[in-house]
Amino acid sequence: MKKLIKNNVFWVGKTDWELRKFHGDEYSTHRGSTYNSYLIQEEKTVLIDTVWMPYAKEFVENLAKEIDLNKIDYIIANHGEVDHSGALPELMKHIPNTPIYCTSNAVKSLKGQYHQDWNFRVVKTGDKIDIGNGKELIFVEMTMLHWPDSMAVYMTGDNILFSNDAFGQHYATENLFNDLVDHCELMQEAIKYFANILAPYTPILRKKLDEIIALNLTIDIIATSHGAIWRDDPLQIVKKYVEWANDYQENQITIVYDTMWNGTKELAHRIAEGIRSEAQEVVVKVYNIAKSDINDVLTEAFKSKTVVVGSPTVGNDILHTVAAFMQYTKSKKLKNKKAAAFGCYGWSGESVKILNKQMQDAGFEIIGEGLRNLWNPDENAKKAAIEFGKTIAKA
Ligand code: FEO
Repeated sequence: MKKLIKNNVFWVGKTDWELRKFHGDEYSTHRGSTYNSYLIQEEKTVLIDTVWMPYAKEFVENLAKEIDLNKIDYIIANHGEVDHSGALPELMKHIPNTPIYCTSNAVKSLKGQYHQDWNFRVVKTGDKIDIGNGKELIFVEMTMLHWPDSMAVYMTGDNILFSNDAFGQHYATENLFNDLVDHCELMQEAIKYFANILAPYTPILRKKLDEIIALNLTIDIIATSHGAIWRDDPLQIVKKYVEWANDYQENQITIVYDTMWNGTKELAHRIAEGIRSEAQEVVVKVYNIAKSDINDVLTEAFKSKTVVVGSPTVGNDILHTVAAFMQYTKSKKLKNKKAAAFGCYGWSGESVKILNKQMQDAGFEIIGEGLRNLWNPDENAKKAAIEFGKTIAKA
């Protein structure tokens, strides 16, 4: 059933309470997600985005209960990714000639995925369509936020920014609006979304945020394509994005490790002890990456000023869990971070050198040469790890 957003604007999306993995298995969604689709019923009827493909039939059936599908004048595809375009093939079976407004890149992505020659209308930033009752939809390209085809739409009169993925969260809710959900959960999902999906594009994001702010638009609602819709102080999330996109860090140090026979684990906890004894106000968090969710740990790394990474040496290399974390972290292009490495070894002992190189490649500033420990830590080695923690805290 459609849900009212404002005046003649309705939510017609899908709340996916069961979703636990997104982008294949790349992104954990502990709190599910929503695929927000919007129906505008002014003099013209407009559908903005659809839902993920598994819910295509249900989406079209529900939509057909609300309106005669033939009455849809315009479809807007803000983004070609399947979680928003997935119901288009089903919908277009019913209304094959209805125009689809999207960017030129979205034509490529939609044709590439669905192999259909629909009635595409290519738009650019500043292009607009009249939807009657004195209201217009103005298109804003959001290139690389987070795909080359991404776009947002601003509705005049009601002052709604349909932002698509930007400002979203993977967060299932029946309550629709940010003032009706748990604020801590909401912000936790928003920063996780930013760190894992948008962080690599912060230079582009900064320019786009400046561009949006310079337009001086009145924004009453930011209607994202995932999670809660921002209607209570909607600019709070824009301000957060400005913070997060500008070399963000909190007073936090995160230790990430994996261990074989608990030697490297012991070092991790002694390093944490050293940091705490030197700087009580620093938030210290310790994660065994083999037992933790990589997206959650990446979010903690994003919040940190320093990330300390440990692995024992195995087969002249590091453990694969730590290697995956380093590769994932590098791909997020985190800025303004320091890093340090540690690990136990029995024979050749290359892990710290390898980790230092990987952290350098990821753009981190390395603190010292790292902490290597032969065999399991004895009392002296534990003291050395505490001192290493103090050095990290001072850096
Ligand atoms: Fe929510 Fe980029 O799709």
